[in-house]
Amino acid sequence: MHIAIIMDGNGRWAAQRHLPRTAGHRAGAKAVDAIVAAAARHGVGTLSLYAFSAANWNRPTAEVSALFTLLRRHLLTQTRRCLEQSIRMNVIGRRDRLSTDLRQLIEHSERATAHCAGMCLRIAVDYSAQHSLVETCRCLQSQSSLERSRFVEQLAAVDHATAPAPDVDLLIRTGGEQRLSDFLLWECAYAELYFVDCPWPDFDAQAFEEALAEYGRRERRFGGIPAAQTAGSSSSHG
Ligand code: IPE
Ligand code: IPE
Ligand code: MG
Repeated sequence: MHIAIIMDGNGRWAAQRHLPRTAGHRAGAKAVDAIVAAAARHGVGTLSLYAFSAANWNRPTAEVSALFTLLRRHLLTQTRRCLEQSIRMNVIGRRDRLSTDLRQLIEHSERATAHCAGMCLRIAVDYSAQHSLVETCRCLQSQSSLERSRFVEQLAAVDHATAPAPDVDLLIRTGGEQRLSDFLLWECAYAELYFVDCPWPDFDAQAFEEALAEYGRRERRFGGIPAAQTAGSSSSHG
């Protein structure tokens, strides 16, 4: 199972408490551990977390730099926790606009956890699905014919993904907005979408389990007909 989470609502969480937005981001960073552990405990194969979108560069410089300071700190502690829980880490997104020290830190975290056989934890940084898709097409433009598998491999390479990700089964967005904000557009083609008002810093293991329970109640049809109606009817094409 692949779960993707848009971790939104840090700023509003802080505003409600008359705190600066950066306090919301600090609280948001703290909330990550419990969700990663809960996902691993529930046997989730891949967990993709949206940490910083390509559009987030539009925020004030001080906020962007606070976010990257938190990210650096988080990568260090997360790597240790990942090793304890046998979780493989992969940072997806562009790297050409990141500082050299952050790129080195990312490479270190990925190398250190490369042997881990448990869940794959993908952290999206400077990520834009539209950018990735355009870049993938640009890399493949000289090909006369194109297999879907080749496209997906190139998309993974563009994203710095260690392997092509399986399609997203469940996309969770906290914070109350109901949009994808350019996250995993290809991979979410058939994802179940779960929008929850709870701001990210308050999203805990119990809230995560409620999302899983809701997912369990959904019927995924992939263009077919409800399972109850397939009994006795034969499938046909065209
Ligand atoms: C999500 O929280 C964190 C990032 C986008 C980096 P926001 O900072 O977007 O919080 P709101 O949406 O303003 O509440
Ligand atoms: C999406 O949240 C990006 C992350 C959570 C990292 P935003 O707060 O940036 O999205 P918009 O601007 O509300 O669409
Ligand atoms: Mg937001």
